[in-house]
Amino acid sequence: MDEKQIVGEKAAEFVKDGMIVGLGTGSTVFYTIQKLGQLVKEGLTIKGIPTSFQTEKLAKELGIPLTSFSEIESIDIAIDGADEVNPELELIKGGGGALLREKIIAKAAKTFIVVADTSKRVEKLGAFRLPVEVIPFGFEMTERHIIAIGLVPEIRLNGATPFITDNGNYIFDCHFPKHVQPEILEQKLNMIPGVVENGLFVGITDLVITVDRDKNVVMLRRLYHEAD
Ligand code: 5RP
Repeated sequence: MDEKQIVGEKAAEFVKDGMIVGLGTGSTVFYTIQKLGQLVKEGLTIKGIPTSFQTEKLAKELGIPLTSFSEIESIDIAIDGADEVNPELELIKGGGGALLREKIIAKAAKTFIVVADTSKRVEKLGAFRLPVEVIPFGFEMTERHIIAIGLVPEIRLNGATPFITDNGNYIFDCHFPKHVQPEILEQKLNMIPGVVENGLFVGITDLVITVDRDKNVVMLRRLYHEAD
């Protein structure tokens, strides 16, 4: 079985009757959502809250009932993929362009689970370019501010025109210097006018479900600090 399918389906085991479930975006969490669709058909009662139009469509096709923030106070569990995961369980996300809704939903969840095949595990974040979502107004100026804090941004394209997120925004994919600490960079980027959100997920992940070389499931748990 494909690594993505192994970790994706494993995550579905954490979903229990009555839960509000954040549904991530991408080819790994696809397997979680498919499994949940099957469990719903077998009688599992959940409500999903999707991180993208793509996931909303998939969930509807599978018959998973959906909800929204106007109807709920919090999310029991959110499950999502990642583009990179480091040993501290910090992430780069947004390869699929859904980082803003993904972060809103991950932050709202009591438990945030990441499903990641071995290709996503890195010692240091940054080989994958960091997605930064910006509003179209003044994006040229926003780009200059991003460059001024040491990043090398490139506008994401869809053919010849900018890629448009589900929120009507643009994305800059950015190289960043190796020595930069993720939590500092996350904050610096979000201070720039025009930046809506960036794909660094720091201190949010509770559990990463991945596999070892023999494709056995491995669970990496977050070490909690006193401040948590
Ligand atoms: C989408 C994301 C995805 O979770 C990330 O790109 C991983 O996707 P995949 O599971 O297809 O590799 O952040 O915005």
